[in-house]
Amino acid sequence: MKIAVACDHGGYRLKNVLMKEMVNQGYEVIDFGTYNEESCDYPDFASKAAKAVASKECDKGVVVCGTGIGVSITCNKVKGIRCALVHDVFSAKATRAHNDTNMLAMGQRVVGEGLAIEILNAWLHSDYEGGRHDLRIKKMMDLEEE
Ligand code: RB5
Repeated sequence: MKIAVACDHGGYRLKNVLMKEMVNQGYEVIDFGTYNEESCDYPDFASKAAKAVASKECDKGVVVCGTGIGVSITCNKVKGIRCALVHDVFSAKATRAHNDTNMLAMGQRVVGEGLAIEILNAWLHSDYEGGRHDLRIKKMMDLEEE
């Protein structure tokens, strides 16, 4: 499975931690930057990861900034993306099971590395439940056509 990752300067360190975790588990990780802690604009990098997921070049995406908010808003502007900003394990599982999210966002200034890795794993290893959630997701995605 191919995972797109991206961050800004505020998420650079946590992105590296999460990348290492995914590579250790055998995922192919494509890093869309940024590649250092110099101040930059999160939409420039989060949008690249989101477009890679939307185009199916990558299967899923993980994005990080200081709060996770900027990167999650950015990704959700890209057609086909459902990006969840998550800072607890329960929501990580629930958003895969109920929302079939294809991207995960976290904030480096919000969660510690240990919890972030648990959240990542809960999200990566949880499946979409389908059923009653199909129509809800369709209703969400139909808004992209308005
Ligand atoms: C950068 O200072 C910070 O604004 C950014 O990382 C993010 O938290 C924005 O939502």
